[in-house]
Amino acid sequence: MLTAFYSWVRVLCRERAVALSEQTRVIRKTYGLQPYYMKQGNWVPKEPLTTTSPSANLDVFKGKTLAVIGYGSQGHAHARNLKDSGLNVIIGLKPDSRSVATAVEAGFEVFDPAEATRRADVIMIAVPDMRQAALYRDDISPNLGDGGKCLLFSHGLAIHFGHIVVPEHTSVAMVAPKGPGHLVRSQFIKNPPEGTPALIAVHQDADGCARDIALSWAHGIGSTRAGVFETTFKEETETDLFGEQTVLCGGVSALIKAGFEVLVEAGYSPEMAYFEVLHEVKLITDLINQRGIPGMRFSISETAKWGDVSVGPMIIGDIKPRMRQALSDIQDGTFVAKWKKEYDNGLPNYNRLLAEDDGSLLERVGTHLRAHMPWIPKVNTGGTQAQAVFKG
Ligand SMILES: NC(=O)c1ccc[n+]([C@@H]2O[C@H](COP(=O)([O-])OP(=O)(O)OC[C@H]3O[C@@H](n4cnc5c(N)ncnc54)[C@H](OP(=O)(O)O)[C@@H]3O)[C@@H](O)[C@H]2O)c1
Repeated sequence: MLTAFYSWVRVLCRERAVALSEQTRVIRKTYGLQPYYMKQGNWVPKEPLTTTSPSANLDVFKGKTLAVIGYGSQGHAHARNLKDSGLNVIIGLKPDSRSVATAVEAGFEVFDPAEATRRADVIMIAVPDMRQAALYRDDISPNLGDGGKCLLFSHGLAIHFGHIVVPEHTSVAMVAPKGPGHLVRSQFIKNPPEGTPALIAVHQDADGCARDIALSWAHGIGSTRAGVFETTFKEETETDLFGEQTVLCGGVSALIKAGFEVLVEAGYSPEMAYFEVLHEVKLITDLINQRGIPGMRFSISETAKWGDVSVGPMIIGDIKPRMRQALSDIQDGTFVAKWKKEYDNGLPNYNRLLAEDDGSLLERVGTHLRAHMPWIPKVNTGGTQAQAVFKG
């Protein structure tokens, strides 16, 4: 039975590879040639931002120094992609940072964040959101000079919720790849090269260049190979938090954990439960990603389709009021205020809840089973973010 399962998995993986290359072409066509795109529910007759866009090039960075402060998941990907695009990139890290050695090994000059800010024309703040305000106050703000520099973010939280207020003489913009940093890097170095879609936004434009800088940065990290959408700091921050809390990370994890526990508590083997409610999630979500929900249903059995439409809504129940509550907590700042309080208290609940899941039966069974799945890329998650190499 397991052999049949694995051959089924291989067929799906092959299918995924073909569909992915088709998807890339479709994205290029849609974003590159379509004269209209959807913005806030309306079709906007505006030039999409892609490699075909006249301003999507690297000219704006000629003779300039780009600093990436932080060399973690996003930081290492932006820095390495921009360097490979031929740009002059330096890294800002605390002298005792465990990321320094990895950045030096990748060929970067590393300075403390204050010195990197002084030397750079464009500065990407790529440290965790809750550490950005102190970094800005202590190291960046005193070294911005009289203007002419541009600050970039890959998520709008610190600016949107007012943790950082930048003087008017300095531009502030965003380049937010829609994917984890490791994907930003692995897509860029694929053969043939691919990219991760990104959002850009301008918060304040001191000298009329902020949009060009954001678009060119997105181009340098490879995002125009996929597609770049323009948004606002408010829209990116609120939708990003909502998506990760309710569906992508929070919703999916909670659904998997509950499904696993119900099966195991009913006496089924943890290995079977793992395959049924965790392993296959990727196979199904890949199909949804490539084709939408009806396209996924094209590949599943009639029985699975009937279970999907008749039992799925009953399991989820009336979830929208709770989702609206989560959205409202994001919009009025409640979520971020609680998160900041937890951070300032030394993260006791954060660490406890993560540790509970790390030690769970689901994770112990998964670790064992994944060790026997040679087709799943093995990643060292014990070192720094920048040391982990993702091939998938
Ligand atoms: N993770 C993602 O894929 C992702 C996706 C979209 C947007 N973002 C956004 O990208 C930003 C960075 O997040 P991340 O997840 O990439 O962070 P991360 O992986 O946790 O990286 C943290 C890096 O910042 C360094 N660092 C921490 N505090 C610092 C300080 N005060 N001065 C200098 N360096 C410092 C760390 O050094 P040490 O190694 O010494 O700790 C490490 O190199 C955030 O705004 C986040 O919302 C992230």
